[in-house]
Amino acid sequence: MNMADKKLQVRGKVLTPETVECEIEVPNPFCLVIFGASGDLTKRKIVPAVYRLYRNGFLPEGFFVLGTARSPMSDEDFRDQMLDAVKQAFPDDFSQNVWDKFAEKLCYCNIDYSDAGTYGAIKDRLEPLEKKFRTGENRIFYLAVPPGIYESVILNIGESRLSEEQSGYSHVVIEKPFGRDTDSARSLNSALGRSFSERQIYRMDHYLAKETVQSILIFRFANSIFEPLWNRRYIDHVQITVAETLGVEHRAGYYEHAGVLRDMFQNHIFQLLALTAMEPPSVFEADRVRDEKVKVFRSIRPFPIDSAGEHAVLGQYGSGAIDGAEVLGYRGEPGVSPASNTPTFAALKVFIDNWRWNGVPFYLRSGKRLPKREAAISIHYKPVPHMMFKGIIEDHIEPSTLVLRLQPDEGITLEFQTKAPGGKLCLNKVLMDFSYQTVFTFEAYERVLLDCMQGDQMLFVREDGVDATWSLLTPLIEKLESEAGRLRFPNYASGSEGPAEAVKLIEADGRKWRPI
Ligand code: BG6
Repeated sequence: MNMADKKLQVRGKVLTPETVECEIEVPNPFCLVIFGASGDLTKRKIVPAVYRLYRNGFLPEGFFVLGTARSPMSDEDFRDQMLDAVKQAFPDDFSQNVWDKFAEKLCYCNIDYSDAGTYGAIKDRLEPLEKKFRTGENRIFYLAVPPGIYESVILNIGESRLSEEQSGYSHVVIEKPFGRDTDSARSLNSALGRSFSERQIYRMDHYLAKETVQSILIFRFANSIFEPLWNRRYIDHVQITVAETLGVEHRAGYYEHAGVLRDMFQNHIFQLLALTAMEPPSVFEADRVRDEKVKVFRSIRPFPIDSAGEHAVLGQYGSGAIDGAEVLGYRGEPGVSPASNTPTFAALKVFIDNWRWNGVPFYLRSGKRLPKREAAISIHYKPVPHMMFKGIIEDHIEPSTLVLRLQPDEGITLEFQTKAPGGKLCLNKVLMDFSYQTVFTFEAYERVLLDCMQGDQMLFVREDGVDATWSLLTPLIEKLESEAGRLRFPNYASGSEGPAEAVKLIEADGRKWRPI
């Protein structure tokens, strides 16, 4: 089963041979104002995403990008920097013709983020450009600045009245980390609330923009055969794994203060948990879907702080080998303290106290420098209630498992028992496998930008969602950090499946992790 023979037609144009048929509406003219335009995120993700959307015909002719940052630069300098970035992003697929037209739409204006007065310069620059490119007053403000200055940029946008909507929309996109605990997230939300209304705010979680993550809801709610089996009566437990082979790379400055619980769990993993566990909303609308996700967060049993170790295991990678190559341990990485206690791995056991999930543990696990890059949700069904093959089959019967593979090798697999061919009664575990293969998909940043242009908040996190996840995790993180002195890090080798304690966490319940 694959979708590779279908074609994606955008206004009659076939994009690639292996694409999928769907209708995509080209958004209305708009302008994108990037704060932090000389930074890494702009070069690696944002501008390449806008370029690819434009090249593939998903953008209107009427749009422009206004980059802003501290460094003084001309429009030409900015275009040169972006040209390098786009060439680097698409080394085999760069079109000079498209670039020439795209480059005309790139402009730059330097500002001092903390000086409210200089935001007037953005306004002065915007107005003639809006006339030239006929974008009306549809404005997207993208915060690609360090999180430490989010609040001041947001408040200054508000004070200079750039967030006010007259004849168009004014949306703001903000990336994680969205605070580092409950209080800082609340303070950020309150700054946002002073400048924008919730309808204008797009809190981004790039996992929600992944095609396969979105398809969890379609799989669950567009088929009637799985949903009746999606509850405590049939499911023994659920595992969610996001494993990476990469280490901390060049991000120690951020990661040393974050660690895996803030970096991966508060956002991506809890979002995957919510999509797996939520009830079907009555309509597929942004706020109805987000209501259901928040209900899941609010039903998660608070972590028992006095026995946190029975529900949470932390780890930090030591040296080892990834794909046959020797790699350094976390404490030896550039910018990391040689005595760092920052966790790069965590495994959590979570219960959702509601009718559907009562008594079903969700085992969540994520770490860096694990043996494979893999993100998957596995639903482990209960064993058969009565072993009628006793005396014929010596072994126990391995229960069926449904695996949603989110990346790489995206697809869905059902593992179940059949009879092995031959005379004797032997069981044989087989796979029913669906693979997405290589179909055309939007890269996460393209999806996010398009949705923000279309005013669709489905894939963005609402204020109450952020608050609920931080409220759950903050006490646990504080407790674990207060005990950090007792950790014996590093406690797993690069290339292994994580610390031995994580294995004990699940084996103590008579279960096993799916191998990574
Ligand atoms: C980011 C984290 O949000 O997600 C990184 O900050 C992590 O530490 C990354 O590597 C993983 O994303 P992906 O899309 O590569 O699975």
